Amino acid sequence: MRAILILLSLLLPLRQAPAQAQAQAQAQAQEAVHGGPVRALAVAADGALASAGFDQSMILWDAAGGRARAVVRWHAGAVNALAALPGGMVASAGEDGRVALWPSRPGAQPLRVLEGHGAPIVALAASGALIASAAWDGTARVWDLAGGLPPRVLEGHQGNVNAVVFGADGVVVTAGFDGTLRAWPEGEPPRTLAEFGLPQNTLALLPGGALAAGGADGVVRIVSADGGVRELQAGTRPIVALAASPDGAVLAAGSIGGSVALWDVATGRLRHRLEGPGLPVWSVAFAPDGRTLWTGGADRRVRRWDAATGRPMGPLGGPLGGPLGGEMEAAPASGFDPHGARVFRACSACHALTPEGGNMAGPHLHGLFGRRMGSVAGYEYSERLARGDITWNRETVADLFTRGPDEVTPGTKMPVQTVGNAEDLAALLRFLEQATR
Ligand code: HEC
Repeated sequence: MRAILILLSLLLPLRQAPAQAQAQAQAQAQEAVHGGPVRALAVAADGALASAGFDQSMILWDAAGGRARAVVRWHAGAVNALAALPGGMVASAGEDGRVALWPSRPGAQPLRVLEGHGAPIVALAASGALIASAAWDGTARVWDLAGGLPPRVLEGHQGNVNAVVFGADGVVVTAGFDGTLRAWPEGEPPRTLAEFGLPQNTLALLPGGALAAGGADGVVRIVSADGGVRELQAGTRPIVALAASPDGAVLAAGSIGGSVALWDVATGRLRHRLEGPGLPVWSVAFAPDGRTLWTGGADRRVRRWDAATGRPMGPLGGPLGGPLGGEMEAAPASGFDPHGARVFRACSACHALTPEGGNMAGPHLHGLFGRRMGSVAGYEYSERLARGDITWNRETVADLFTRGPDEVTPGTKMPVQTVGNAEDLAALLRFLEQATR
């Protein structure tokens, strides 16, 4: 049912002028490919965007977020954190306690996996060849990619470590459930920078070595280099996402309950409060120009806002309206494999299951098993798929998502993605068999 709702929302515009509607539907498809809330965003120096979510996938977007370059499903569980690395590389981390390093054109397997955390990782930060991870095992870790040595394990927080950043001096700073902000200079004892007495969820670095911390009480606290504290009252619900503009002048704070607040850091003035669909917001990130703010939230979309005016920009997704977080657990259409339906969420933004659903970013999948590759009328296939030399069945579709479309059909337009887990793959095949009949 949910998949069908998504499809409907993406397809309604097709009743308008076909060419324009097709473009619109594709733009929407490209903005809504996550199968669950968008939990993390990262922006590289060239503007390329990465998004990740509860649907266990990571999507790499071209600069400006126009097209999905690759969809990666590798983590066993939600992907909670991302960090942009030099050279277009990206680090992802999640519920499975692992950090994975990906090249700018990822294949099915990461370049490297950093293991050691015994609980979900919820935040990542990168600086030069260093990656820092914060986890619910009560530790943060600092991995030196150049050295290949075991990580530095930062122990001292009472309970979950929720946030990590590299401070202006390169020193790692963490924030945690215990309400403290701690600095961890290498070779020296850690220092407690602040103690707020209530959980701190997220951190951002500001000019002059100041730090912003987002609290469970809806307050953003700015701790200056000399230890002074200023408070910005964003609301009463927990702050879950913070991002500073590249020049540090504007701070964006997303709260679990409501909108995103944009603050003028120097004066503490509230510039804008973004209102609209997509709430609750789980992630915020500024583009390198500082004008565009990306938000990711419960509606599975990545939304773009003009940070100067606070207005939404570009296509804002389908007419689904309100937050869909609650729908995450809704049962799929009866008779369909529920596990497979969940896996198919990663496909549903680009593929309809029925001919009425029509062609979206990808062709509809009706009658898939027994169908020749590249054979849906009216869909413009890549040259490789148009060749039609594969017949889709359980084995060939399994192969497509085991080795990946880039291996099986080099030159395809379908973004690189695999379904690495054998049970997920079997469930997806069961679902496809039922739902494309
Ligand atoms: C971001 C968009 C996108 C996502 C997500 C996506 N696909 Fe595709 N898919 C495409 C495109 C585009 C094509 C056509 C490729 C071409 O012409 O080279 C395609 C082609 C296919 C084909 C071949 C169809 C034919 O008619 O020959 C199959 C099968 C397929 N996809 C299945 C899936 C499944 C299953 C998933 C989820 C695990 C998925 N796709 C996720 C965009 C996507």
